[in-house]
Amino acid sequence: MGHTISIASGKGGVGKSVVAANLALDLARKGKQVVLADLDVGGADAHVLFGHLHPTHTLTDFLTHRVERLDDVAQRLPIHRTLRIIPGTGDTLATANMSYSQKTRLIRNFEEIHADVIIVDIGAGTSYHALDFFLMADHHVVVATPDPTSVLDLYRFIKLAAIRRVLSMFLMRDVMAEGLANRDYCSVEEVLEVAGKTDESGRTIAESTLQAFKPALVLNRVSGRARVNVPQLKKLLKDYVGGDLTLLGEIPEDPAMEQAVRAYTPVIQHAPSSPAATALTKMGETLLHMLSTPSTRAA
Ligand SMILES: Nc1ncnc2c1ncn2[C@@H]1O[C@H](COP(=O)(O)OP(=O)(O)OP(=O)(O)O)[C@@H](O)[C@H]1O
Ligand SMILES: [Mg+2]
Repeated sequence: MGHTISIASGKGGVGKSVVAANLALDLARKGKQVVLADLDVGGADAHVLFGHLHPTHTLTDFLTHRVERLDDVAQRLPIHRTLRIIPGTGDTLATANMSYSQKTRLIRNFEEIHADVIIVDIGAGTSYHALDFFLMADHHVVVATPDPTSVLDLYRFIKLAAIRRVLSMFLMRDVMAEGLANRDYCSVEEVLEVAGKTDESGRTIAESTLQAFKPALVLNRVSGRARVNVPQLKKLLKDYVGGDLTLLGEIPEDPAMEQAVRAYTPVIQHAPSSPAATALTKMGETLLHMLSTPSTRAA
């Protein structure tokens, strides 16, 4: 199994899918065997961004056991010989209520995908499914725009992901921690306090789990007027969530991005010299470098 990179956001429509599609193509061009998996249950459209309008199989085939192995759902995209896609499912009802066993089967099957890099496009928001799919990866990427509501939703998303990460860490360690998980938490500090009461090392373990959680931020649609105070956001997350945020890169607001979507072609192919494409290929390089450093997957 290769490296898994999950791409999520608190708010919808901020550019997760275009970022995921372009990074997948870019890494394939840089020599990697890549699989782009669309886990945006219900809002699946990653295949459309490649003009792959009639997929032979989708995630639905796997979830309904028409195809047993997730790797067999991954189909080659004509745009590049080392890029495959697992198209998402549009069947909202059946899959939005995915059962626990379906979810664990799906997560387990990710480990059997043949690829160097698996990029997972996660649906927006903080449902348990979104958080669990996000956390299953080795590397976590979050996308936000400079819009204040997007930044606020990003903060909320990272906080809830951090809480869930700590709780699942305890659940893996000890069945007694069941009681710890079955509560509603508003803050990471609250989880740490309860964790500290479970056993002596509880708080220390929770804190080191949080410190190892280092999501990488992609700021999309940045313009001269719309910027984000990244150091301030980092400090906020460090103080209140405990984890570090790194900046993977910024993508400017660029009409080429919309034109590329309309042309069913990732912008790095459609308009390679556009500002957005330049930013995305640079991000691909940073990501390659990140993949060569030790993983952040929870123990
Ligand atoms: N940097 C950019 N400049 C201009 N337009 C952009 C940029 N990034 C994204 N867009 C536009 O925003 C639209 C939404 O992007 P995308 O579908 O990737 O968002 P998303 O986060 O995946 O949405 P959802 O939450 O619905 O899955 C794109 O179709 C594109 O037109
Ligand atoms: Mg999307």
